[in-house]
Amino acid sequence: MRVGIIGLGYVGLPLAVAYAEAGHEVVGFDTDSRKLERLAAGSSDVEDVPDDRLAAVAERFEPTAELGPLGECDAVLICVPTPLANHREPDLTYLVDAATSLSRVLRAGQLVVLESTTYPGTTRDRLKPILEESGLAAGRDFHLAYSPERIDPGRTDYTVRTTPKVVGGLTDACRDRAAEVYGEICDEVVPVSSPEAAELTKLLENIFRSVNIALVNELARLCERMEIDVWEVVDAAGTKPFGFMRFEPGPGMGGHCLPVDPFYLAFAAREHDFYTEFIELAGKINQTQPHFCVRKIEHTLNDVEKPVRGSRILLLGVAYKAGVGDMREAPALKIVRLLSELGADLAYHDPHVPELTEFDLRSVDLAEELARADLVCVITAHPEVDYERVVAESSLVLDFRGVTRDIGAENLVRL
Ligand SMILES: NC(=O)c1ccc[n+]([C@@H]2O[C@H](COP(=O)([O-])OP(=O)(O)OC[C@H]3O[C@@H](n4cnc5c(N)ncnc54)[C@H](O)[C@@H]3O)[C@@H](O)[C@H]2O)c1
Repeated sequence: MRVGIIGLGYVGLPLAVAYAEAGHEVVGFDTDSRKLERLAAGSSDVEDVPDDRLAAVAERFEPTAELGPLGECDAVLICVPTPLANHREPDLTYLVDAATSLSRVLRAGQLVVLESTTYPGTTRDRLKPILEESGLAAGRDFHLAYSPERIDPGRTDYTVRTTPKVVGGLTDACRDRAAEVYGEICDEVVPVSSPEAAELTKLLENIFRSVNIALVNELARLCERMEIDVWEVVDAAGTKPFGFMRFEPGPGMGGHCLPVDPFYLAFAAREHDFYTEFIELAGKINQTQPHFCVRKIEHTLNDVEKPVRGSRILLLGVAYKAGVGDMREAPALKIVRLLSELGADLAYHDPHVPELTEFDLRSVDLAEELARADLVCVITAHPEVDYERVVAESSLVLDFRGVTRDIGAENLVRL
């Protein structure tokens, strides 16, 4: 097969490489010319696709800014961003642009699949009419389907191949064709009755996480008042072999998906005079968690008779989650901004994030900074950091991730 991928980011690049590894020819279309240059030079900026994997498929993978080659593909998968606009409503401009581009080269017999996370109805009501500007009819001249991406950057126990892929087609034939194409790279394809069912499946998965993270974050705030160790409670509850799924409290929720996707459904629900209260409540708790963390930082310094203003605070890990360098919606950004406003003398160390340009900060050397800082805060617990050493060499440590829960030390405070 010849497979086209539109958007070579966290979702599109691993897919492109998976098809190339399965022996197919892959055309990767992207509008970011610098990313295309890096890819052409064999350099990947997605952790899940190391450079050697990219090099191994270089002959079958063509990154390009040219639309023409997409018209020669058997299947085209759309993996562009679906962020929120200023008022927390869906911003489909990337999708509309990508669809408009594709409509210029679309030809009969092709399969088009949308992978970007979005609200139910997007494939049918937004994507289909744009593609049909080509003069071809979806479901008759070309196949159209929706299949949500389930990639979890940094995860190694489940891969593109071993994660089941949900597929909903405009017609049964669209669904079957999409299932066939995904069957080339996935061991299990899960067909559903419509694109809308597939779109909502993805949102349910992400809203489930968002609501449960909010629940443990709220519990962590209550535990502080009650002087109960929330980590001990989460660990103990986690021993129940049925009916409980463990979620960790933390400094807030980040990434391109969880803080954004639930609001796609909240938006679509409002059109039906329906208010998704769980989504709004979870959003409120998770969005304000960094404020709670900053207050905890103030109290922790207060206990050693120091103000935030002028204190040297070292933030350990700023990416939105461990093991990756993705800063999108990272709670650390809010914490940096709030602490700067309070006059803290801020530094950060993150092996995956060399600089935070918007705050004019560069990752500092850990060994030098530990002894110097008045307070070291674990915001994101990257696996390559030795936390026993952090506690041993710092005057005061505040852990928002529970990675020090087996360490007993006078200079250690936890969420
Ligand atoms: N990152 C994740 O973990 C993840 C997981 C599941 C689903 N998703 C969803 O997948 C979609 C893509 O997310 P991502 O993290 O891969 O985004 P990303 O920002 O990493 O990559 C998107 C790519 O699309 C390119 N692009 C933008 N407009 C384009 C256009 N008109 N034509 C061609 N290329 C264009 C960008 O240059 C970029 O390279 C989103 O809807 C997201 O919600 C992401």
